[in-house]
Amino acid sequence: MAVHMVGLRGLMATRQYCNNINNIPRQVRRVVALLQDQPLHQTVTVKGWVKGMRRQKERTFLDIDDGSCYKKLQVVLNSDQRPATLGYHSAVSATGILQPSTHPSQEVELLAEEIEVVDVGMQGDYPFKARQTHPPDYTRRFPHLRPRTNSFASLLRVRSQMKAAIQHYFEREGFINVDTPILTTNDCEGGGEVFMVQHLMAEQQSKGSSEGKVQDSYFKQPAYLTVSGQLHLEAVANGLSKVYNFSPAFRSENSQTRRHLAEFWMVEAEEAFLVGREGMEALLGRLEGLVKEVMTEVLEVTSQDVQAHWQRNQGTEEAVRSALDKPFSRVSYAEALDILSGAPDLPPVSPGQDLAREHELYLTNTLGHTPVLLTDWPLTIKPFYMSACEDDSSLALAVDLLVPGVGEVAGGGLREHHLPTLQGRLPPPQHHHNNNSLQWYLDLRALGGGVPTGGFGIGVERLLQFLLGIHNIKDTLPFPRWAHHCPC
Ligand code: 4AD
Ligand code: MG
Repeated sequence: MAVHMVGLRGLMATRQYCNNINNIPRQVRRVVALLQDQPLHQTVTVKGWVKGMRRQKERTFLDIDDGSCYKKLQVVLNSDQRPATLGYHSAVSATGILQPSTHPSQEVELLAEEIEVVDVGMQGDYPFKARQTHPPDYTRRFPHLRPRTNSFASLLRVRSQMKAAIQHYFEREGFINVDTPILTTNDCEGGGEVFMVQHLMAEQQSKGSSEGKVQDSYFKQPAYLTVSGQLHLEAVANGLSKVYNFSPAFRSENSQTRRHLAEFWMVEAEEAFLVGREGMEALLGRLEGLVKEVMTEVLEVTSQDVQAHWQRNQGTEEAVRSALDKPFSRVSYAEALDILSGAPDLPPVSPGQDLAREHELYLTNTLGHTPVLLTDWPLTIKPFYMSACEDDSSLALAVDLLVPGVGEVAGGGLREHHLPTLQGRLPPPQHHHNNNSLQWYLDLRALGGGVPTGGFGIGVERLLQFLLGIHNIKDTLPFPRWAHHCPC
């Protein structure tokens, strides 16, 4: 690639200078570090993409974005020396001296002495136009290119910070990070929404019969992609007390909603020695504390990226501030049905029935636009592992966390510890595909030394939807997968 010398200080002086800097290793700096540390009068190199270009007679001003932060670095070069191939979205390497900027919109700028166009910008059918904001349902059509847009780059930085903040929280609280398996023989939630795993040769050998498929299969028994690592976490909690995982989860829901994915990320916590109502209180406090502390850290560290989303998505800032400032509402399922019975335009919910998203949103709106911890669910609509309340065995010590605008972001509860009760609640084999595969889980209760545990799982994409006001969950992760959609 051609290297263009920029004669800002006169050609001779620049040549002299470049000769000197050619002899020393270039110090490539990230834009975020330059804007924060402001190493004035030092020679630095930045590598990034041109996101803005203002051409004046004497000088050209570039906004360089290297993805490290929301802000761009202004690079100033002599217009005479502007490379012909330089354009919007060009990839460049610029070397020069960092100096105070005279323009009030930035504190520092780079006075370029060399600029190299690493690749020209916007060729052929490049789908994004310079200086235009494209709607998410348009950029979603180009998952391989949308990290180049400002708004999606912001999302990815916030997502990364959220994952870090979750880990920081658990480290502070003394939890051990555990990797639960992706390949498993259980359908933890019992919903039958598992993806079955088969290797290609077995598929070809099985000649279509399902029995043949199992015999020829890699594991010689049905195996699935995990829907939740909870059962494995329970096993580890019975040795390490406080554990969490951070793992992809897979569900074959044939759902095209704006809050379901086939592949999503869940953070799950499991804690030993949580018993009865007292244990449930501790669990609710943990869930509320985690959500609040994580959102607070993300707001602090990536505030400009968050603010950019809030400006586009009206009402989100108020909802998030209210979630941070006020205690979450706490209601039982029975109380929720009472509230819902007063809702004029909603389908009625009969006792024992699950809630739809519209009911969840009505509850968060009615209860002061705050997140709601909804507890004491009918045992019959919760998975087999849920513990019954001591005072009413028809109710589960279970919780769903509902947030304004999104609905359910987390689910959890205490686990049934009593072996015969648990055995009685195992789903029949035809619904569970593979009941023997849960013997190890029963052993946690049967072999001694096992204690009651409790925990929850938070959908990371749904928490991001709430924090940033993102309408469609498919815009919260780089390569979303949903029914009939796995393009790259
Ligand atoms: O409520 P769920 O099904 O709970 C469990 O899986 C428990 N085993 C967790 C535990 O106690 N360790 O799922 C937890 C959360 C939901 O509240 C939701 O936020 C998210 O996972 N989730 C999904 N997110 C995106 N797409 C889907 N298809 C999702 N299904 C669940
Ligand atoms: Mg749930």
